[in-house]
Amino acid sequence: MSRTDILGRDEIVRLVDRFYENVRSDEKLGFIFDKVAGVDWDAHLPRMYAFWQTVLFRDGGFRGDPIGKHARLVLLTMMGREQFDRWLEIFESTVDELFVGENATHIKACAADMANVIHSKINGLPNEKFDPAKLSDEQRARYAAYRKSAD
Ligand code: HEM
Repeated sequence: MSRTDILGRDEIVRLVDRFYENVRSDEKLGFIFDKVAGVDWDAHLPRMYAFWQTVLFRDGGFRGDPIGKHARLVLLTMMGREQFDRWLEIFESTVDELFVGENATHIKACAADMANVIHSKINGLPNEKFDPAKLSDEQRARYAAYRKSAD
């Protein structure tokens, strides 16, 4: 099947379902979800559909506490750069396997930014990659567009 862009809810659901299939079978990360956190998948997957729909299309109605939920995991297991890099690697390869286009590129950039923010906040580290003085041209343009659409 030829790849399309992420156009709406249906593609978000396909992406999220495939991503967590890949994460759960991953040696570095699978156990964190299934053994350490004991995730209730019937509840988690719909939350993640809403989350990514909110990030990409601003209409998913997600409300939650991602920092708090991941901070709790720091007390139970390793949640360092290695784990976040692996998470991102799986996220990016899942997007690339299924989709191609502007939204596919955008969702990967959002995931990378959020991985940096969550990783640094929950570990109490300064976030160098998110230093306003060090934003890339792509990040600058993207954040300027957010401000416009929020007006
Ligand atoms: C090492 C990397 C990561 C691990 C092991 C991980 C693991 C988890 C687990 C176990 C939960 C469920 C927590 C609960 O319901 O109590 C969760 C929730 C969540 N995760 Fe992650 N996560 C990682 C990275 C990320 C990243 C980079 C993002 C964003 C791009 C993200 C977004 C979310 C969101 C939105 C929730 C739901 C939060 C809520 O319900 O309020 N996660 N994660």
